[in-house]
Amino acid sequence: MKLQADSLYLKRANKEVLRGISFSVAKGEVYALLGGNGAGKSSTLLCFLGFLQPTSGHLRVDQKELSEDLVTARKKIAYLPESASLYEHLNATENIRYFLELAGKQAQACAIDAALDQVSLATSARQQTLRNYSKGMRQKVAIALAILRDTEILLLDEPTSGLDPSAIDEFHTIVRNLADRGKTILMVSHDVYGACQVADKIGLLRDGVLVGEFSSADGQSIDTELVHQAFSNPQQQLSRSPTDRKQ
Ligand SMILES: Nc1ncnc2c1ncn2[C@@H]1O[C@H](COP(=O)(O)OP(=O)(O)O)[C@@H](O)[C@H]1O
Ligand SMILES: [Mg+2]
Repeated sequence: MKLQADSLYLKRANKEVLRGISFSVAKGEVYALLGGNGAGKSSTLLCFLGFLQPTSGHLRVDQKELSEDLVTARKKIAYLPESASLYEHLNATENIRYFLELAGKQAQACAIDAALDQVSLATSARQQTLRNYSKGMRQKVAIALAILRDTEILLLDEPTSGLDPSAIDEFHTIVRNLADRGKTILMVSHDVYGACQVADKIGLLRDGVLVGEFSSADGQSIDTELVHQAFSNPQQQLSRSPTDRKQ
């Protein structure tokens, strides 16, 4: 297993945000952690990056305990935060070159172009500053950067929120291709349809508890209806008032 969370508990500001979650992601797999606002999705990613310290439980990257060698683990991971922080006054190529250098890597112009080809960023846009880019175009630059970092693992935080439907489809195709070429992808989302479209496995997170897991079988996508029902079914949500359920 490339990524593993085992009985993970996390407290933030004295609130139990993750309550014993366990899941694992194999090489070449897309795992979507699905949940409403405040379910603990971003917190889970921050734990894998070592930015948040779990109260108890285990996090493993490539079978190794994360806390034992955080530096090595981080080198294997590229992270796309909820809103990619790129520089508005630089163009796509300049942004990529700058952030790659920060990550201790260099890339030839042709390699950057190849990565931008892979994410289908229009050639005419590449020399323009990001000021006039749509959110979808920015996400493409961010994912091209992740491709060039060439890490084994990608953590994506709500990568399609704010994108239009065709940009979402396009993004999912890119993610699927990356996984099919051996990348391990953990993405978090509140989009049931999108998660079913792209993921091999879905973990349903509700108030810090993993309440269900769904897997694709025989190359078929996960059943959207099934996941949707589980996602909106409040039965497993004990002792919460309806107004608390911000799904
Ligand atoms: N910066 C923070 N400081 C303290 N608590 C936080 C912070 N961010 C989030 N939390 C708590 O963690 C819970 C889970 O948040 P988060 O992981 O961001 O959820 P999600 O990404 O699923 O919307 C929130 O309900 C909130 O109580
Ligand atoms: Mg979040």
